Amino acid sequence: MKKITKAVFPVAGMGSRFLPATKASPKEMMPVVDKPLIQYAVEEAVAAGITDMVFITGRNKRAIEDHFDKAYEMESELEAKGKHELLRLVQETVPAHINCIYIRQAEPLGLGHAVLCAAPVVGDEPFAVLLADDLIDADPPVLKQMVDVFDAHPNSLLGVQNVPPTDTGAYGIVCIEPDGDGMQQVTAIVEKPAPEQAPSNLAVIGRYILTPRIFHHLRRVQTGTGGEIQLTDAIAAQLAEETVLAFPFHGIRYDCGSKLGYLKATIAFGRKHAEVGQAFTEYLASLNIGGRP
Ligand code: G1P
Repeated sequence: MKKITKAVFPVAGMGSRFLPATKASPKEMMPVVDKPLIQYAVEEAVAAGITDMVFITGRNKRAIEDHFDKAYEMESELEAKGKHELLRLVQETVPAHINCIYIRQAEPLGLGHAVLCAAPVVGDEPFAVLLADDLIDADPPVLKQMVDVFDAHPNSLLGVQNVPPTDTGAYGIVCIEPDGDGMQQVTAIVEKPAPEQAPSNLAVIGRYILTPRIFHHLRRVQTGTGGEIQLTDAIAAQLAEETVLAFPFHGIRYDCGSKLGYLKATIAFGRKHAEVGQAFTEYLASLNIGGRP
């Protein structure tokens, strides 16, 4: 199996849960402290050795392309003013050896369709998918953990975590069993089951490593939950002919697709921030809501 060098970022979604903030700008550009969500995801991919970032974009998503582009005017102005630290931050948004590739998903046909849009660029290689909404604080970063597992077990691999049983309707839910090789094999997967129908409360979180055979299934799956082409349904078809593994990763995941998750992430990352972390932690402590100075 080849090394994983490509990551797909489906970023065409409307972000309706964050309206009006997302009326004219992409939800993936919402910052947690001072970095947009999509940059956290790209940095995680870089840390996992990925070199080709494939963004599946749509209308109103130009800001993402601009963010990972060179910002000539801003850079020369910062240079002229001697603001070297800020200049470094702007220039390091994406390292020089990284390629950014943008594909437009013309219609919002679902996550599965978005991933299928990447097929001409990904070709016949295993690849990663990262959903920027799922911000995961982990060391090593989760995709790096997963690439290391993939190197030893070259199968499709899904990042999973237990969720409260009442929340199954928001996730792809898997059943697993030990494969005798220290790994967990996925035996079933279903998209957004109601709690009373859910086979477990083990949820797929937005980190996937997929073998290229997934494209074969994505081309064939019918419209599923929510009237969309679901990645989960293609993975279910893949299960019938290939091993798919689940990876209960180490790390704290923040659902930044929800307001509450986003606020929790802001507090967690704010407390750790090099510049403002200490002052912010002291401020939280002064509010008497559990901040640890
Ligand atoms: C998507 C997937 C779902 C997965 C989730 C992880 O759902 O369809 O299977 O569990 O991401 O965040 P979405 O959150 O886009 O509705």
